[in-house]
Amino acid sequence: MTICYFTATGNCLYVARRIGGTLLSIPQLMKQDSIKISDEAVGVVCPCYAGEMPMMVKAFMSRVYIETKYFFFIYTYGMGAGEALAHAKLAAEAAGLRLDYANLIRMVDNYLPGFEMQNQMDTLPGKDVEGQLERVCRDIRERASCPVATTPAVKAKMAMYKRMLADRILKKDTAQHYLVNDQCTRCGVCAKVCPADNIAVTEAGVQFYDRCEVCYACLHNCPQNAIHMKQEQSTVRFRNEQVSLRDIIDANN
Ligand SMILES: Cc1cc2nc3c(=O)[nH]c(=O)nc-3n(C[C@H](O)[C@H](O)[C@H](O)COP(=O)(O)O)c2cc1C
Repeated sequence: MTICYFTATGNCLYVARRIGGTLLSIPQLMKQDSIKISDEAVGVVCPCYAGEMPMMVKAFMSRVYIETKYFFFIYTYGMGAGEALAHAKLAAEAAGLRLDYANLIRMVDNYLPGFEMQNQMDTLPGKDVEGQLERVCRDIRERASCPVATTPAVKAKMAMYKRMLADRILKKDTAQHYLVNDQCTRCGVCAKVCPADNIAVTEAGVQFYDRCEVCYACLHNCPQNAIHMKQEQSTVRFRNEQVSLRDIIDANN
């Protein structure tokens, strides 16, 4: 089994590890000229962003050539995933794949403008992540299938979420509005955890370019907690407790 994953704060890496198999980082795959994956079972694990998949995962799905008997797509999310499963089905079909199985795993929501992170982390015990994971792992082990609806009504909702959320939140120049305070030691971790090579750290400081994935890896993983955004609900930061900073760097650098 091969799993392609995208992660900023470790939830998806943790889920990908728990499902098992060979793990491939989507940011790293995207650096290849051509992306071909062939295995008996192939899956994608990524966060839900604004009711969709991250922009890079969308681009990955439009470029990858996958040869498999069983294709699955798992989102981690925090509050509500909108019609993200329908996005997965349509992206799979556009890539010439049948989506055999798709599911959601509710975890800590790392969306800083929406949530106070400590409150979010405190919700974790009630989410029963291990129980959700056991069910998803069993389904995948048994090669279960599940239908995902893409009816006109679902497509209308997808368009509405896109207008109301994705078009507003997922903007390539987002990082240019981040604030770096004087706690910054120019250690370069922000550049290393960025999946989009969107950050340069020089003598002059931290510079953000215009290909931000809006994943907040830089904000959540800064060892000095020196990167902020005006709309954040608190200065507390999150990384999945089973995943280290080294793991995020290895995944995204
Ligand atoms: C820009 C952005 C948008 C998000 N949108 C949603 C959303 O629409 N629904 C939701 O439930 N969670 C949303 N989240 C939360 C993430 O999907 C969730 O925390 C995910 O588990 C993070 O995965 P990671 O730790 O692997 O990066 C969003 C997070 C970010 C950064």
